[in-house]
Amino acid sequence: MKIALIKGDGIGPEVTEQALKVLYAVSERFKCKFEYREALLGGRAIDETGVPLPDETVDICAGSDAVFLGAVGGPKWDGLPGNLRPEAGLLGIRRALKLFANLRPVMLFPQLRTASPLKAEILSQGFDIMIVRELTGGAYFGEKKRVETKDGIKAWDMMEYTSREIERIAGIAFGIARKRRKRITIVDKANVLESSRLWREVTGSIMKDYGDVEIAYMYVDNAAMQLIRNPGQFDVILTENLFGDILSDEASMLAGSLGMLPSASLGASKACLFEPIHGSAPDIAGKDIANPLAAILSCGMLLKYGFGMEKESDAVLEAVNNALDKGYRTADIMQQGMTLVGTEKMGSIVAENILI
Ligand code: IPM
Ligand code: MG
Repeated sequence: MKIALIKGDGIGPEVTEQALKVLYAVSERFKCKFEYREALLGGRAIDETGVPLPDETVDICAGSDAVFLGAVGGPKWDGLPGNLRPEAGLLGIRRALKLFANLRPVMLFPQLRTASPLKAEILSQGFDIMIVRELTGGAYFGEKKRVETKDGIKAWDMMEYTSREIERIAGIAFGIARKRRKRITIVDKANVLESSRLWREVTGSIMKDYGDVEIAYMYVDNAAMQLIRNPGQFDVILTENLFGDILSDEASMLAGSLGMLPSASLGASKACLFEPIHGSAPDIAGKDIANPLAAILSCGMLLKYGFGMEKESDAVLEAVNNALDKGYRTADIMQQGMTLVGTEKMGSIVAENILI
């Protein structure tokens, strides 16, 4: 099984290192073999090749069975025009591999209940949410432009969707809901946006094929509030690209920290991409304080969704649970009475837990 490895920028390389330790432990315990090929993307790619997404990276990723990505971006490249920024590399690889479905599970490790800023009474009801974010459409990929007008510069990013794009992501989301609690909330802004109204029409007609799944629509502003007020009401949340970006960062705080949330991006090609949802966090890069658990849990998703290796994936989850049970915490999830560890140490502890 070939894995393309994109370490990226900021804390990307250090969290990827920890995820690798865990994958090595998995191959040792379960006697499986992974082959790694490194590829450049984002800021490092700009520095070394002049572009955020070198052709070679697309080739390496497309020729692999899965792609693991740390994080990209940083202030060093902020001044570059949009199409040459590190983020353009990330959007480019998602697009090149046709990864239209981004799965972002939000669950609460019970050990972290008090690390979440939410009140205990809200968390005590528990929650287990799967955010399904459309990843290759909407304002991220619609026409972008600037023109001079008599009122100064005018800029726009077109939020656009075709019914085909909505159908295929909805098919994935309904399929996932079917294997879970069979409830799907479609988040949009249909009271204002035409593209949202199309989402409602298309999902409304698809719904007939999934009679066993209960469907609800919710405006995005309300959803942002409901996530904090009563997260337990959600099972699968299906939403467009930009809303999904925003809501998944918000939802991560339910889990205690942005450093806990993994993601899987699936699509039409065989190479799916797995990455923590956090960014490159340049302010804490190289200090050995970043939480590697989102990256490690992304490897768990890689094993499950990329390779269909369920028991290996469960072992990763169990190893993370064990580390938390034993009281190990990185700074972002530190609580009184626990043992504060750095990035490296947390990675080693989880890897050791796989082997025992
Ligand atoms: C994410 C990130 C990216 C996004 C950025 C880095 C382009 O925030 O994966 O959520 O907006 O998709
Ligand atoms: Mg984001």
